[in-house]
Amino acid sequence: MNHPAFNGQAAVEAPAWIRHRKLIDWVQRVAALTKPDRVVWCDGSQEEYDRLCAQMVASGTLTQLNPAKRPNSYLACSDPSDVARVEDRTFICSQRKEDAGPTNNWLEPADMRSTLDGLFDGAMRGRTMYVVPFSMGPLGSPIAHIGVELSDSPYVVTNMRIMTRMGRKVYDALGEDGDFVPCVHSVGAPLAAGAKDVPWPCNDTKYIVHFPESREIWSYGSGYGGNALLGKKCFALRIASTMGRDEGWLAEHMLILGVTSPEGRKYHVAAAFPSACGKTNFAMLIPPKGLNGWRISTIGDDIAWIKPGSDGRLYAINPEAGYFGVAPGTSEKTNFNAMASLKENVIFTNVALTDDGDVWWEGMTDEPPAHLIDWQGKDWTPAIAKETGRKAAHPNARFTAPASQCPSIDAEWENPAGVAIDAFIFGGRRSTTVPLVTEARNWVEGVYMAATMGSETTAAAAGRQGVVRRDPFAMLPFCGYNMSDYFSHWLRTGERLARLNVQMPKIFCVNWFRKGADGKFVWPGFGENMRVLRWMVGRVEGDANGAEHAFGISPAYDDIDWSGLDFTRDQYDEVISVDDAAWREELDLHAELFDRLERGLPPALQETRTALRNRLAA
Ligand code: GTP
Ligand code: SPV
Ligand code: MN
Repeated sequence: MNHPAFNGQAAVEAPAWIRHRKLIDWVQRVAALTKPDRVVWCDGSQEEYDRLCAQMVASGTLTQLNPAKRPNSYLACSDPSDVARVEDRTFICSQRKEDAGPTNNWLEPADMRSTLDGLFDGAMRGRTMYVVPFSMGPLGSPIAHIGVELSDSPYVVTNMRIMTRMGRKVYDALGEDGDFVPCVHSVGAPLAAGAKDVPWPCNDTKYIVHFPESREIWSYGSGYGGNALLGKKCFALRIASTMGRDEGWLAEHMLILGVTSPEGRKYHVAAAFPSACGKTNFAMLIPPKGLNGWRISTIGDDIAWIKPGSDGRLYAINPEAGYFGVAPGTSEKTNFNAMASLKENVIFTNVALTDDGDVWWEGMTDEPPAHLIDWQGKDWTPAIAKETGRKAAHPNARFTAPASQCPSIDAEWENPAGVAIDAFIFGGRRSTTVPLVTEARNWVEGVYMAATMGSETTAAAAGRQGVVRRDPFAMLPFCGYNMSDYFSHWLRTGERLARLNVQMPKIFCVNWFRKGADGKFVWPGFGENMRVLRWMVGRVEGDANGAEHAFGISPAYDDIDWSGLDFTRDQYDEVISVDDAAWREELDLHAELFDRLERGLPPALQETRTALRNRLAA
């Protein structure tokens, strides 16, 4: 980094228990640039967390919830302009433009550095800079990696303490010269001396910047979610995916779950659905009546790091320690385990406040409360909602909760060696065209299906919602390098598995979101998704039947266990049918994506498209 040398300000004193000279020097350089009033070295203790929360209650950033209803829990309401990831302000600044590829925003690294130097100069004036050491993955695990985030947001510090293994023990793991990913974050709102702060400082100018070669992250102007909690999408996906490319492993936008049959056989599944398309729900699924005896256990709900083990199989860990989950739509009925995880020690963001000091969001209960304060601090009643269409909670409102509080947490969730993956699932949000479930005939066709996946956009990212876009592997916003190279990396992973002669994980595609003529979802979803998962496990075991069609294998009506559910053959046909004309159009969209990704696109994918097109024509 070419930041100005420490220019005459008092040296930043590090506590004696930090012995990492390069880390201390870096903190000093960033402090010299950003000019905070003070530097606090976080130790990750409960006292520190409580102190920061109390301070944020005093400053208006947090509201403490009623301790009788929601112990040790808080509500944060953000600035209305800062409510989701900003994909058009997210940059991959590799040395060469083609290494970022056509799906990422790219700027010349030297130009970006000079822009950042300007933005960060004095950005933390009047504020405290927190030094937040964190581990992605169990501390000391050979799969884990360490990061240090410098942030001027106490909201970020408290969320990072829930979402990662954060605190003093990370310094012990780092020792005198351990590797860490440097992450710098500022809300970009310096405070003049004596000025009063706002509850949610941020800046209209936003930059979420990654330097993949030097493995650095710089984030400016936003305090929300993946823009600001830099361990999550910035490190664990964008930077980690480039580490995985270089070192032969995978960093994926995937949940990880265990599924145990009534006979006690356990399988592990990793599933990639785009943002706000059902990962948290699927990871915590409770099997419906009729499938008694099946059990789902939760290993992760958003990110998987997957590495080959010594036996050649693929082992996955959850690098996170908490859930930053979508609140709207979450209820005792749809996701009992999530609701149970939210009983205490939670930070809610952009949900509504009830009159008795608790929280509410759309879909939490059938009957809304008679009165609320909505996420923007305004009075809300069902009548007002009807008249104005105003939501009580923002559609991308979230909860931050410790993973350990989830009743379905898997006994192996912190196993440093990870769990062996039996199947991958890819799924988008598609109201038409894409069937409920399809099994790929082989690895290459599976990679093709994942690569060409489309999904309707959601509130998890700023911008238009409900438009179908290609979202390869649910990684479009999160791949830190050229998407074509990423596809090659997946193909190579399959070739390696085949060479070692280990059992290949099966690849499936799902769509829970097909709609009927009435505009409603036809498939009941949530717990009922267990019926699809059960069929997949049967396919892994080789004892479930399926019917082959143009682009894979799907279950016939009688191949699914319907015990306990009244779902007719006609309804099933609505969610499983393949319309050839619609699929010809779909394949044209695949071609558009491939045109965009032309440079470096593995020929196997074009060949697969041609073969599928011919099958459809036949
Ligand atoms: P990110 O945290 O943004 O990566 O999202 P996610 O993939 O974990 O999505 P999540 O499970 O939080 O679900 C997002 C929304 O989809 C919620 O409102 C859910 O209620 C809804 N949802 C989840 N599963 C299903 C399903 O099977 N059917 C239907 N119709 N909706 C679902
Ligand atoms: C997503 O958008 O996929 C999330 C939320 O999981 S965020 O952390 O904001 O990326
Ligand atoms: Mn996500």
